[in-house]
Amino acid sequence: MSFEFDLQQVDHLLTTTRAVRKRLDLTRPVPRELILECLEVAVQAPTGGNTQRWRWVVVDEPEKKAALADMYREGWGPYLESQKAVRVKQGLEADTRVSDSADYLADHFHEVPAMLIPCLLDRGDGPGYWGSVLPAAWSFMLAARSRGLGTALTTIHLMREREASELLGIPDTVSQAALIPVGYYTGDDFKPAKRRPAAEITYFNEWKQTLGS
Ligand SMILES: Cc1cc2nc3c(=O)[nH]c(=O)nc-3n(C[C@H](O)[C@H](O)[C@H](O)COP(=O)(O)O)c2cc1C
Repeated sequence: MSFEFDLQQVDHLLTTTRAVRKRLDLTRPVPRELILECLEVAVQAPTGGNTQRWRWVVVDEPEKKAALADMYREGWGPYLESQKAVRVKQGLEADTRVSDSADYLADHFHEVPAMLIPCLLDRGDGPGYWGSVLPAAWSFMLAARSRGLGTALTTIHLMREREASELLGIPDTVSQAALIPVGYYTGDDFKPAKRRPAAEITYFNEWKQTLGS
């Protein structure tokens, strides 16, 4: 008999792994072993050509976290302003839920217990390149969530990627893909977010041909 998943549990994990910012417990250290356990799950993710050209840098030293947090904050203000302008241009309302939460994270970035930086050996670009590390980053976030850890994929510090590489001794030939704050989350559970139904944005054989249209 083939293995049967508990779909309720699996779907709950997949639909409730949120960007955790305000609910990160900034006072409780995260054991390195637990981060490694989550990464052991993550490295089962796919890579183009099965190259597995990833490396993972965990930062839990206060001085280095503070320096990375400064880099993040330098990028955060200008990014927020540009995002507001984009939403106005697209006629969308300001997403205050995300920006409040993201502001909070920017303010407290240096306090997060650990930071994980997924890296790729060799510098490159394009879907095959980034697609060879971001699925694993997401697997890490899922594995973390199921162990009581909150995470958020962030990219803002990459505006200062060179400085961050110098700080951490990352060679010039290596790319950083993100910076994922990691901490235990407070509270019991998370809810699925509001999203457009998949049926509305999925087309069959022809653009705009939705199921039943
Ligand atoms: C490519 C990418 C870059 C992101 N960069 C940031 C970031 O720099 N800072 C941040 O607070 N959140 C960042 N996020 C998190 C998103 O804001 C978040 O996933 C989105 O608002 C959905 O929120 P939810 O996970 O609660 O549903 C990023 C997400 C992705 C996928």
